[in-house]
Amino acid sequence: MSNKAGLEGVVVADVQTSLVNGVEGKLIYAGYSIEDLAENALFEEVFFLLHNVRLPNAEELEAIRSQIAKQASVPQEILDMMKSLPKETPGMAVIRTATSMLSAYDPDAENLTDKDVAREKAARLTGQLTTISAAWVRISKGQEPIAPREDLNLAENFVYMMSGEGPDKTASEAVNVYLVLLAEHGMNASTFASRVITATGSDMHSAVVGAIGALKGPSHGGANAEAMRMFMEIGEPENVKPWFKEHIKEGERRIMGIGHRVYKALDPRAAVMKLHAERLAESSGNTKWYKIAESLAEEALGDDYFIERKLFPNVDYYSAIVLSTLDLSIDMFTPLFAMSRIAGWTANIVDQMGGRLIRPTANYVGPMDLKWTPVEER
Ligand code: ACO
Repeated sequence: MSNKAGLEGVVVADVQTSLVNGVEGKLIYAGYSIEDLAENALFEEVFFLLHNVRLPNAEELEAIRSQIAKQASVPQEILDMMKSLPKETPGMAVIRTATSMLSAYDPDAENLTDKDVAREKAARLTGQLTTISAAWVRISKGQEPIAPREDLNLAENFVYMMSGEGPDKTASEAVNVYLVLLAEHGMNASTFASRVITATGSDMHSAVVGAIGALKGPSHGGANAEAMRMFMEIGEPENVKPWFKEHIKEGERRIMGIGHRVYKALDPRAAVMKLHAERLAESSGNTKWYKIAESLAEEALGDDYFIERKLFPNVDYYSAIVLSTLDLSIDMFTPLFAMSRIAGWTANIVDQMGGRLIRPTANYVGPMDLKWTPVEER
């Protein structure tokens, strides 16, 4: 296999959106540390930052908040299509299909060149993806979807559309922090997928659909759901040690939510997420999942195998605990990741528009000099 398997270390673009420092465990969005933004920023501020490489002033922030909220509703035809799907369809498959269908109703879907139009489309898609995700939370339970409100921010709108109440302040703040932390992350697999599609001259909806497909995998965004399933399989804090011994030390499994291609130190987003997970678990009165996660991480962090390979919890590990306190089904964890990462995807898509076709080469290791023979002679 080529020594660049997985394209590790290959630089594919100059970007201004984010810097991932895997050695020191630091993450910066357009100059601002992730800790600073997670503590203070609204998701809409981060959306503006990623698209404009500067923070908005008060007027600009209200403009982008309202632009996203006002365009967040989705055509009834899409909600009807979602209602026609089997209730057990994975959330990621639903948002992938619905996002693709959105393009048929978007007046600018086939405008492939104007970057101002693309930024407006990005804001629209960002709102709509949240509406679709919240709608599936309800439709999958046999409930009617709820339309977005124009006066709310995206995190509040999600909580409102999902529950039909409130929106609850603690839940909205938790969703906002989550959305800020996950919005952008260098040349991750889904962002790269969106750039590859955009570089062919294709449209934004196609690029976002491709990115959703890449995010769905358990080696990428799907890990938050897999981490939660693992915590539930462990069941009780006292089962952590025997589970670790049986499945990790003596078995073939990986701890989902641990390890990262770039971070060889603690993922800074995991540190922020851990604090929120602990706080939310305590305020919800259910600390069991947090305790299981914490003690499994301790097992891994103290184990030579994990130490030698520099394997630390990544953002998906503790976000599973945060999301579980929101009364979301595990299946909806990864769609929430997509609701956030669409900010980074679309900023990268706009940046990539008009760029050169991305077309690497393959190292051929197959047979040579064979001669075709008629099928009945083989
Ligand atoms: N548990 C146990 N061992 C692991 C883990 C893990 N979670 N992750 C990596 N390793 C081991 C591998 O077995 C390998 O060991 P070896 O050198 O003896 O063969 C070594 O660490 C390196 O692993 P690779 O798979 O080569 O690392 P890569 O950079 O390709 O993969 C990945 C990174 C996919 C994230 C991996 O760590 C993993 O599978 N983690 C679990 C899934 C996960 O949490 N994904 C989310 C990533 S973050 C995100 O997308 C938001």
